Amino acid sequence: MASRRTVLRTAAAAAGAGLLADTAAARPRHARTPPAAGSPDSAGLFRTAMPVAPVLAPAFTTGSCDIYTITMRRARKEIVPGLLTELLTYDGHFPGPTIKARSGRRVIVAHRNALEVPTSVHLHGGEVSSGNDGDPMHTIAPGSRRDYFYPNRQPHASLWYHDHAHHAAAESVYRGLSGFYLLTDETEEALPLPSGRYDVPVALRDARLDGRGRLVYEMDDVFGRTTILANGKAWPYFRVAARKYRFRLLNSSNMRFFGLRLADGSQFVQIGSDGGLLERPHPTAGLLLSPGERADVVIDFSRYRVGSQVVLENTLGPGPEQVGRVLRFDVTHEARDSSLVPDRLRSLAPLPAVTGSRSFELRMDEEESAGARAYINDRTYDPHRTDSRVPHGGSEIWTVTNTNRKAPHNFHVHLVQFRVLERNGGRPGPDEQGLKDTVRLLPGDTVKLQVTFRSYRGRYLYHCHMLDHAAMGMMATMEIE
Ligand code: C2O
Ligand code: CU
Ligand code: CU
Repeated sequence: MASRRTVLRTAAAAAGAGLLADTAAARPRHARTPPAAGSPDSAGLFRTAMPVAPVLAPAFTTGSCDIYTITMRRARKEIVPGLLTELLTYDGHFPGPTIKARSGRRVIVAHRNALEVPTSVHLHGGEVSSGNDGDPMHTIAPGSRRDYFYPNRQPHASLWYHDHAHHAAAESVYRGLSGFYLLTDETEEALPLPSGRYDVPVALRDARLDGRGRLVYEMDDVFGRTTILANGKAWPYFRVAARKYRFRLLNSSNMRFFGLRLADGSQFVQIGSDGGLLERPHPTAGLLLSPGERADVVIDFSRYRVGSQVVLENTLGPGPEQVGRVLRFDVTHEARDSSLVPDRLRSLAPLPAVTGSRSFELRMDEEESAGARAYINDRTYDPHRTDSRVPHGGSEIWTVTNTNRKAPHNFHVHLVQFRVLERNGGRPGPDEQGLKDTVRLLPGDTVKLQVTFRSYRGRYLYHCHMLDHAAMGMMATMEIE
């Protein structure tokens, strides 16, 4: 069980790394660094309510398919109170509208690109054909449109969609192009978990804003992005009833790792990860979330008196004290609660027999220089090269190592939900025993994954989901054949 101490220890272990310094709300006040221009200081936190992205309504539905339309366009939003920030959006929303889908029911999303940059839409965690995967080279030119077909043949999972255009994705995602895609099924619906308005998607990320509220994008800017956003607002509050809530947390940052905990150190229950529910609930006081990862948690606010407030904190840096806060829950009223977290949430299919293995080494140039590159097995991304040829139908052990001494990474594989067999030679924690599509790798870490290729054939990516690293070359192509 990852206690608060484990999380803090992990944070402290990473602190030497510089890029994941232990920021901690526990830091003495005098050690505080002045806030960056445009970002409120601590006194200015928790001034706006956290919105929840609207659920997109289908433009048409047929017996077996829902058809959605989305226009990618510029919009101005109030991220920080009193300032308007220009963003790249899906349909004018930041984050994008939530798509709700069901296993067994197909979805088509018709995207129109009304931006000046080419775009490509990827359904992260989705089992989709190669032609619908949002390949970096299959872009939607400004002024044109493209339909993406999602068969939804996989089980429930909290997925998300985001831009993946070659040479543009890191900046376009940073400027706003991401949204939730929540896929449900009978297994999930049969459980008495908090639902309806007590089931809340929350996209967490950071940003760097200048004094006029403009988003500043610089490649690999891990120290500049010190404004923390929840559902598109800087340090919001969220009014809750004194009962259980399910939060679907997504780290949609380009680069920032979050170490999440409640300020009073109390426990919550992790019920899901990238690929849907865990087999059993995992009570914990802390949670690590690297870019692209999701965690479903249930927080029970019935332990708090009406009128109390509890801050969701971030134990990881880098950044000044304010990056140690994320959002504040305000317990404002009582409400009935018939929800429960059952002891058994789902059963995962047994692991198939292993048919092969391969290994991947993630590394980047750590000296600061404009020409710094990032590599998988010593090569930077080339969209025209095939890096791994993977037999269809197989189930392989993939050993992935971060050989850097300072830089954290993570590893995301398109198309599949894999299992984490080992972390640094030991059994992974309960948070990593479900289905995963993205796995964190602190400096020196090695993970052993089992990855099964039984759906589509074709070309798919695997990469570091610190998107600036992917843009620096830490991305590669597999061909399933
Ligand atoms: Cu979420 Cu290749 O990405
Ligand atoms: Cu993906
Ligand atoms: Cu990386």
